Amino acid sequence: MLQVRLLRCKIYAILLGISTAQYLTNGTFSIAGPSNVRYDTGMFGPDVEEYHYFYDQWPTGIAMTEHNKTIVCYTRGEENAYTLGMVSNTTAEVAYPSLAYNTPADGLYQMIDGLPYGSNSTDALIKIDVIWVLDTGRPTINVNGVATLAYASIGGPKLVGILAHNASVLYTYTFPADVHYYDSYMRDVRFDLLANVTASGSGIAYISDSSPEGRTGFIMLDLDTGESWRQLSQHNSTQSTPEDVPSYNGLPFYTESNSSAARHLIGGLDGIELSLYGDIMFYSTQTTDYLYSIETSYLRNNPASDSGSVAAANTAVENLGQKGGKAAGFVSDSLGMIYMLMPETNAIYIYNTTTMLAEPYVRDPRMIYPDRAFSGYDGYIYFVVNQLPYQPAWNDGTGEIPPALL
Ligand SMILES: *[C@@H]1O[C@H](CO)[C@@H](O)[C@H](O)[C@H]1NC(C)=O
Ligand SMILES: *[C@@H]1O[C@H](CO)[C@@H](O)[C@H](O)[C@H]1NC(C)=O
Ligand SMILES: *[C@@H]1O[C@H](CO)[C@@H](O)[C@H](O)[C@H]1NC(C)=O
Ligand SMILES: *[C@@H]1O[C@H](CO)[C@@H](O)[C@H](O)[C@H]1NC(C)=O
Ligand SMILES: *[C@@H]1O[C@H](CO)[C@@H](O)[C@H](O)[C@H]1NC(C)=O
Ligand SMILES: *[C@@H]1O[C@H](CO)[C@@H](O)[C@H](O)[C@H]1NC(C)=O
Ligand SMILES: *[C@@H]1O[C@H](CO)[C@@H](O)[C@H](O)[C@H]1NC(C)=O
Ligand SMILES: *[C@@H]1O[C@H](CO)[C@@H](O)[C@H](O)[C@H]1NC(C)=O
Ligand SMILES: *[C@@H]1O[C@H](CO)[C@@H](O)[C@H](O)[C@H]1NC(C)=O
Repeated sequence: MLQVRLLRCKIYAILLGISTAQYLTNGTFSIAGPSNVRYDTGMFGPDVEEYHYFYDQWPTGIAMTEHNKTIVCYTRGEENAYTLGMVSNTTAEVAYPSLAYNTPADGLYQMIDGLPYGSNSTDALIKIDVIWVLDTGRPTINVNGVATLAYASIGGPKLVGILAHNASVLYTYTFPADVHYYDSYMRDVRFDLLANVTASGSGIAYISDSSPEGRTGFIMLDLDTGESWRQLSQHNSTQSTPEDVPSYNGLPFYTESNSSAARHLIGGLDGIELSLYGDIMFYSTQTTDYLYSIETSYLRNNPASDSGSVAAANTAVENLGQKGGKAAGFVSDSLGMIYMLMPETNAIYIYNTTTMLAEPYVRDPRMIYPDRAFSGYDGYIYFVVNQLPYQPAWNDGTGEIPPALL
């Protein structure tokens, strides 16, 4: 069992941590008043420690090195100085591995036929999500006063491997246009580095494509040959669930867009997690109630050499049932337990692969939208509480949730 540590912003997010040593004893209720009325304490499980505070940029992913460097990435917009940062003290981060590496020479984006495309620079980070370092290549930019997600240019979206000890970029993988589409959007990545999973022996990366435009699916990358391919493209289980209304902090949530079509969050395949031995992939879309899985052997089949593999994968998906909330962030530990980050209940649940049931782990009122987590080398689980319902991008690009609702 992991300990929990939290990272948070004054207004943006916190990084929290929980220790493995403690475990749930209390329920979520206490009693008060002369009639002993039950009330919701908003808490259960082990103590949560505040670890870091974000004041400048909205964080998304987090990774930690064995030498205690904390690496975070952000949703890149024009107002941000960098995409990838390193925690330098409890309230500040600095560009990582350098500011120059976070600055494409031709700028963040370019206009082509009146549409904004992200930089095609393979030498600099444009926008990154998650561990190792996944650059979506799709910055949010301002077009005629409207916050707009630029399309991807080949070369911009990439997976980068940075050597932690000297911050040098060791690997850069890019994707062809028929694997990473111009409207793809990479969200999460998991690695299986065992020699037996690919013919070449260097391991594989599994990447989620959440394409808000709807061309969702999994992207696989052979880390030796650099070859990549897709599976479960636009499969029902990877598609955004329509018209979901999640509740955050007890408030029903709609995005404040003037376009009625955009009043609901639209996010396809989002969080992914491997089983302990890498044979099962667990996954969810951004606001689905359901947990899905597939045997990874189906994802590893490359349709270029096995055209039947697409249909085989599409029929191999398993619906494991509901998780107990609309959620999509996962992390696992060295015992193979799948922790599920639950923004609707400010909690983390565990999916028990034996009973196939969701179990409570920790709940705390400070855990407003736990989004991405990292299982540390020191017995802590670190997770970013990024308070997404308060970010401008979910509130018409400007303010936060109207004060009347707070
Ligand atoms: C949890 O249980 C302990 C021991 O029974 C008690 O001291 C503590 O107040 C309880 N915490 C909550 C949040 O109810
Ligand atoms: C990392 O931090 C932990 C405590 O959180 C400490 O026990 C360990 O020695 C540190 N490792 C290094 C390499 O500094
Ligand atoms: C953290 O670093 C920032 C930037 O260098 C500095 O302004 C701030 O005072 C530091 N805070 C602490 C608590 O050391
Ligand atoms: C990247 O974009 C620039 C500007 O549009 C173009 O000149 C260049 O050829 C592109 N590079 C590649 C590798 O496509
Ligand atoms: C970083 O370390 C690697 C491996 O130790 C080495 O190959 C590389 O040259 C180093 N890079 C720099 C910039 O020092
Ligand atoms: C690779 O080897 C591990 C450890 O022996 C095993 O658990 C796993 O099933 C193997 N994977 C494949 C694809 O054969
Ligand atoms: C998937 O299919 C089921 C059953 O047809 C449907 O209820 C559900 O809305 C679909 N999900 C998505 C994301 O389209
Ligand atoms: C949405 O509508 C409000 C008021 O009707 C207006 O002030 C605002 O600029 C509009 N926002 C966008 C993104 O069009
Ligand atoms: C999962 O359920 C099994 C069977 O009830 C139990 O032995 C195990 O401890 C549970 N795992 C967790 C992580 O709670």
